[in-house]
Amino acid sequence: MIEDIVKRLDPLPPKSKLIIFGGGFSGQRIACVGRHLGIKVLCSRRQENSKGADFIFNSDKELSSEIFEGATHILSCIPPLSNGEDPVLIKLKTQLLNSKNLKWVGYLSTTGVYGDTRGEWVNENSSTNPKQERSIRRFSCEKQWLATKLPIQILRLPGIYGPGRSAFESLLSGTTKMVDKPGQVFSRIHVDDIAGSVFFLINLFAQGKNPSVVNVADNLPTNNTEVITFAAKIAKKSLPTSVPFEIAKKTMSPMALSFWQENRKVDNKLLCKKLGYSLIYPDFKSGLKNCFSNLKSQKRIAT
Ligand SMILES: NC(=O)c1ccc[n+]([C@@H]2O[C@H](COP(=O)([O-])OP(=O)(O)OC[C@H]3O[C@@H](n4cnc5c(N)ncnc54)[C@H](OP(=O)(O)O)[C@@H]3O)[C@@H](O)[C@H]2O)c1
Repeated sequence: MIEDIVKRLDPLPPKSKLIIFGGGFSGQRIACVGRHLGIKVLCSRRQENSKGADFIFNSDKELSSEIFEGATHILSCIPPLSNGEDPVLIKLKTQLLNSKNLKWVGYLSTTGVYGDTRGEWVNENSSTNPKQERSIRRFSCEKQWLATKLPIQILRLPGIYGPGRSAFESLLSGTTKMVDKPGQVFSRIHVDDIAGSVFFLINLFAQGKNPSVVNVADNLPTNNTEVITFAAKIAKKSLPTSVPFEIAKKTMSPMALSFWQENRKVDNKLLCKKLGYSLIYPDFKSGLKNCFSNLKSQKRIAT
């Protein structure tokens, strides 16, 4: 429930205006929390008539400078272009640099920039070693944002899940694949904790607690098999047969395969211990229970 997120957060100054570039899965949730906190939020999408499109932004179209009037906070949730450029900076860098009221500029990045650590932990001081093309592009965008000298903060995210995007969707559609790769783990984060972290970090930033990079991950990196097994149990669905990775990889898309080729655990101590953010969903079990409640409330699953 949105109220559960909001009640944990301190209010923002009343005249705050947040512009979110990329109102997709995370952007919409962040916008919703911002509005419940009582601030003005404008969210972009690429197409007219897309749900939650307050304005249209894409790399081919000019944007009215009115959007920036009174903007105090900016968040980009847009991935890099295929040439490694950042879609927001390439079009709007000058307008951003001329926006004198900006107190915080956030950029949603990925923990892919750490590369493969063969299952070892990574924190914000770990060296970056992006190997996948998309992670190389992402790291380039991080550097482009940092170079602006705006009041920038980079949030590095592992796999994002939440209502509508979780293990239940593939279980319900019968497309779940149980891939067995011993020792492989994935870190993840519930979308509500992305939204919670954004506003938590905005408030801390105003107090001078402003690390330029923060990992936003839950406490429990886990093998995918455990996640699917837990989801199947609570949804009372049968599990597909487990397939060894060496066999499963032959039919994986290049994108899926790239995820399985890296193995790391994302450390969240900066966010959760040093800065003091309290996770709403500390692990996949609590997060999946929330996703399941949501499915039930939408009557998408028989109970
Ligand atoms: N999904 C994950 O597990 C994961 C993990 C780590 C990091 N991330 C990154 O974290 C951010 C948020 O993730 P998400 O899953 O919430 O994203 P999402 O649902 O895919 O939304 C991405 C948003 O960016 C917009 N967008 C994409 N390319 C654009 C372009 N060239 N110009 C203008 N707008 C563009 C999309 O527009 P439309 O709304 O019109 O489609 C959408 O609003 C993304 O940068 C994502 O790559 C994702």
